[in-house]
Amino acid sequence: MVARAKGKSTVTVGIQGSGTPIEAEYRKVDEALVRCATLVTTFDARAYERRAVEAARQCWTLRMAAEHRSTVVFAQLASQLFEANATLDAKLVMLRMAQDEVRHTETCGQVLIALGAPPACVFDRHVRPLARHAGCTPEERALRNVIYTTCMSEMVAVARLVDEIEATRDPLLRDAARRLLADEVLHGQFGFFYLEAWRPWLDAHRGVLRSLERYLRHAFAVIEVALAPPIAVPPPLTADERALGLPDVARGREIFYSAMEEAIVPGLERFGIEAGTAWRRRKIAAA
Ligand SMILES: [Fe+2]
Ligand SMILES: [Fe+2]
Repeated sequence: MVARAKGKSTVTVGIQGSGTPIEAEYRKVDEALVRCATLVTTFDARAYERRAVEAARQCWTLRMAAEHRSTVVFAQLASQLFEANATLDAKLVMLRMAQDEVRHTETCGQVLIALGAPPACVFDRHVRPLARHAGCTPEERALRNVIYTTCMSEMVAVARLVDEIEATRDPLLRDAARRLLADEVLHGQFGFFYLEAWRPWLDAHRGVLRSLERYLRHAFAVIEVALAPPIAVPPPLTADERALGLPDVARGREIFYSAMEEAIVPGLERFGIEAGTAWRRRKIAAA
């Protein structure tokens, strides 16, 4: 349910249901999609410094907003898969991924309740439209956006989440992050499965492979700015902050580059895309 918050462009997203049969249907969808059960529901704030707990609340509030925003990205991408005449399974799984991000929004809200914070986040409803890539066919447009959102963005998110879970000692936060990861792995793999499905089409359209390489030069530079911006590295995390799984900025940057160079670039090259060259020559194209 969405309630108005301050300003014209933002709303506050909470986790309360509609109280109608729609909510009962939501529960059925959630139960059908869940990959691993909730094992821990309580959090002991007394075990940590107050500042670290407050930072964890802020972190999960931001994560809640990010999860909610991902729903909108996948929902838009689903419509591009329809334009590209992708197979029914690809369309449905993309819609499933959009649903996962709604469910993750709720997971974050439940974590916030356990942490003693309101289960709510601010959401900018001026949704940025997914790139249309002027001049591209619907098939290439979908391929470009699938590669950017899942092969690249979600794969980096998966790598960071795995690292975070390894550092998290708190049982509730570790359990919640593990539940998110169970779905995020599919989100990161989807693009590579999609490329597999489109391999015969790509083999028959070699010009699109070259066009994807030109796009990747730009896309790699854009995602580097988005996910590994050149910001001052904050002081190292305290033991409590690490135990609560707070993001380590320096490690996050390292993980971005290792995921790109050791997983994403080689993964794309399997499809005849010269991603390594595009990565080395990455550059934001003039608008
Ligand atoms: Fe998610
Ligand atoms: Fe995701």
